[in-house]
Amino acid sequence: MKLKRTHTCGELSAKNTGSSVILNGWVETRRDHGGLVFVDLRDRYGKTQVVFSTERNKDLHEKVNQLKLEYVIAVKGKVEPRPEGTVNPKLATGEIEINAEELEILNEAKTTPFEISDSITSATELRLKYRYLDIRRPSVQRILIQRSEIIKALRDYYGANGFVDVETPFLVKSTPGGARNYLVPSRLNHGSFYALPESPQIYKQLLMLAGLDKYYQIVKCLRDEDLRADRQPEFTQLDVEMSFVDIDDVIKTTEGAVAEVFRKSLGIKLELPLQRMEYSEAMSKYGSDKPDLRFGMQLVDLGDIVKKSSFKVFSDALSNGGAVKGIKVESAAGGFSRKNLDDLNVLVQGVGAKGVLWIKYEENDINSPAKKFLTPEEIAGFQQKFNAKKDDLVLIIAGPLKITNLALGQLRLHIANKLNLIKKGEFKLCWVVEFPLFEYSEEEKKLVSSHHPFTSPKVEDMPLLDTEPAKVRARAYDLVLNGVELGGGSIRIHRQDMQKKIFSLLGISDEEAKEKFGFLLEAFEYGAPPHGGIALGIDRFVMLLTGAESIRDVIAFPKTAKAVCLMTNAPSPVTKKQLDELGIAVKEKE
Ligand code: AMO
Repeated sequence: MKLKRTHTCGELSAKNTGSSVILNGWVETRRDHGGLVFVDLRDRYGKTQVVFSTERNKDLHEKVNQLKLEYVIAVKGKVEPRPEGTVNPKLATGEIEINAEELEILNEAKTTPFEISDSITSATELRLKYRYLDIRRPSVQRILIQRSEIIKALRDYYGANGFVDVETPFLVKSTPGGARNYLVPSRLNHGSFYALPESPQIYKQLLMLAGLDKYYQIVKCLRDEDLRADRQPEFTQLDVEMSFVDIDDVIKTTEGAVAEVFRKSLGIKLELPLQRMEYSEAMSKYGSDKPDLRFGMQLVDLGDIVKKSSFKVFSDALSNGGAVKGIKVESAAGGFSRKNLDDLNVLVQGVGAKGVLWIKYEENDINSPAKKFLTPEEIAGFQQKFNAKKDDLVLIIAGPLKITNLALGQLRLHIANKLNLIKKGEFKLCWVVEFPLFEYSEEEKKLVSSHHPFTSPKVEDMPLLDTEPAKVRARAYDLVLNGVELGGGSIRIHRQDMQKKIFSLLGISDEEAKEKFGFLLEAFEYGAPPHGGIALGIDRFVMLLTGAESIRDVIAFPKTAKAVCLMTNAPSPVTKKQLDELGIAVKEKE
């Protein structure tokens, strides 16, 4: 390469007029105006208009004729002001152009499968197959650059606060509980498997035992789970652990980090401390353990009003220990047709509710399929409770409390999206605390950890472990941003007896505990300090801060919902020889 760049494609302005410069980059556009050929030259930093006057400079003529889109070129020329009327105020370099004197073609390019431009939306599959071309688009580059800045801000913060960055292994022991592990066969240990870590949880606890006091790591985690818009099989965590701390210490340190990211990345000053909400309140008011606080529409309990109702839907729910609750959608009655309202049934049936009952408020009356079942007192009670006015829509669900809350929570989100009630660019953070330690898994027919089995119960709830374990609250906390779980953590169990007890409540036998977690239980015998920590999902954080629609948009080389990399076609079959070395045979799919 003869012509090495003196400037980038994003930095020249009228100040540089008259200088001789060299630019390197990709041909974004090429317009032929007879004797003048205009090229927009692009690199990471921006784009600059280059003018080849093929009449003035005949030598250039031939080479310029070869130029096609996405060719990589080097151009030497003079910075000149653009002629009157052709200045482009939208472009940082829009005042000037380069009058080219020399052109070096550094590489040719085939016609790309889609245009490299922010104004083009091409199919996701195609973008992922040619992700390196997709990343060439400025909007995608901006996200990756912002991601890099966010990670730098976090590293600076934790570094400055005395945290030690420690790398933990990727080939680890497969342990029960938590997400399904990816397994890696061991060639040297026939028939044995490593797991890829779903998180460095146990290692960071062992680092506290080791006396490291404050640990952080920006680390890949791997989970073989079903994927959604905010889930990837490999994702990145900011992982943190601290010794001799309680909940407030972890929360305060994390808030500092999050505030620093908002400040550096978006110039937004967060009001600290952040709001804290108990899990029970989040569920009862928002029907979710990750409440989106950017809009109201809180869940309202109607049990008082309908406690004597003869309407079977209500009386059955209440007599079975369930609930009758609803939400009010202001001024929305007109916007919901019968079909729209029927569609809501399908949505709530997805979480196990029977259906949604609706009431539309009219001038001095209501319109509702339940009208004939309701007494005037009940109708008046609803109106008062919701402060319902003409054209408001009230949606009611009756059934088991948990299902009712979840279904209304889903409705709340669905309607807020449908009616555009969520302002773009707004950020609402909160902590959710006081989670239950266990959940009952219908699938496994046993208690499972709400967070993970190393989470400490609240001290005052410990006696309940023997009597009513489902009522025990955890010393756990989740950080929620705009209705997305950004992070979660807990104060850990640091005593062997308590850890053993929790394992046994989870149905992990002494033997299994010894075989799977023996090293951890043994470690607790050598002086484990009280400790706790948290992990934040970096991909989700970047997704929310950049306004990206999917977690895929903030990962350089993401996978599809079926965990496939469309660019490399991973995962793919391997040769028989490779399998033989590992002593593995692949069974036919049943
Ligand atoms: P947890 O499993 O809650 O906790 O994970 C912490 C955070 O990681 C993010 N996250 C994900 N992001 C993208 N794709 C996924 N598949 C995915 N799974 C999780 C979320 C989540 O809040 N070891 C504990 C933390 C601790 O107790 O310190 C843990 O991993 O943002």
